[in-house]
Amino acid sequence: MTADASGAGARAVVLGAAGQLGREVADELRRRGIDALAADRRRADVTDTEAIVALAARFGAAAVYNCAARTDVDGCESEPEAAMEVNGRAPARLAAALPRTCRLIHVSTDYVFDGRGRRPYREGDPTAPGTAYGRSKLDAEQAVADAGGLVVRTSWVFGPEGRNFVSAIAARLGRGEPLRVVSDQIGCPTYAPYLARALVDLQAAGAAGIVHYCNVPAASWHGFAIAIVGALGLNAEVAPVATADLPRPAVRPAYSVLDVARFESLTNRRVEEWAAGLDDYFERLGQGKAET
Ligand SMILES: NC(=O)c1ccc[n+]([C@@H]2O[C@H](COP(=O)([O-])OP(=O)(O)OC[C@H]3O[C@@H](n4cnc5c(N)ncnc54)[C@H](OP(=O)(O)O)[C@@H]3O)[C@@H](O)[C@H]2O)c1
Repeated sequence: MTADASGAGARAVVLGAAGQLGREVADELRRRGIDALAADRRRADVTDTEAIVALAARFGAAAVYNCAARTDVDGCESEPEAAMEVNGRAPARLAAALPRTCRLIHVSTDYVFDGRGRRPYREGDPTAPGTAYGRSKLDAEQAVADAGGLVVRTSWVFGPEGRNFVSAIAARLGRGEPLRVVSDQIGCPTYAPYLARALVDLQAAGAAGIVHYCNVPAASWHGFAIAIVGALGLNAEVAPVATADLPRPAVRPAYSVLDVARFESLTNRRVEEWAAGLDDYFERLGQGKAET
């Protein structure tokens, strides 16, 4: 099957299609007239390279979007080997095994950086992950890029179909629990449907190598939590706390803002604001200000 310039008529496989990003990527592709085979873990385990290559060939896919990952950052600390296999070695194997006619679009993370930066991280900045999750994600990046694939690093993802920071805060509010949120970690929240659009735009633009994509502006988790309370039309207090007061198995980067200049130049458009994504998130769940 041949594709026109917009990608219509093309076909793509989405791995990790039951995850918060995978669902949005499959929807976005279909909206653009691209036939998407949405494969969850039962249909396609990302570690089974041969099966995925065969699936992509049978389907006639011109692209494989890898949204599958072990994303439990604290869990990866206790099971680093399993994390490395799913997040690191499997995408690397897949990139090398796919034919030239089928490109791998792979999603990576701000956790590849050590978080000690003072200005937004550029694609070529030195990496130094401080967590097992970050190390496992970094492991795949070079292999995917070397095979001609696309690696999109992103951060703080929230989608209406997922378990994420926004759903956790909303659940706490629903239970009337007090909110204490870290105020000394800075990053960029990213709305999953916007990220899905960005991935498909980058593929349509023929982008390769590593590209950073996140929404703007940068915020602390505390600032993001206040915005969530506001988007729900509520008045609850959010107490700021220091990272040191809420120890977790995996140490989160203090600063993980990504520089999106390369994305903006490749796609000739600006990245979206996460606040608009937050409104859309609650609208889709029927919980926005208008509904409360
Ligand atoms: N969430 C974030 O804040 C964030 C930030 C930066 C980058 N990212 C990256 O963005 C991508 C999408 O993440 P997400 O937020 O959509 O995560 P998610 O909601 O946890 O989705 C990941 C999906 O991958 C599936 N999966 C796990 N192991 C698999 C395997 N061996 N084979 C096939 N599927 C497997 C999971 O299935 P099960 O539920 O059955 O395990 C889940 O459906 C990932 O590459 C992640 O590293 C996420």
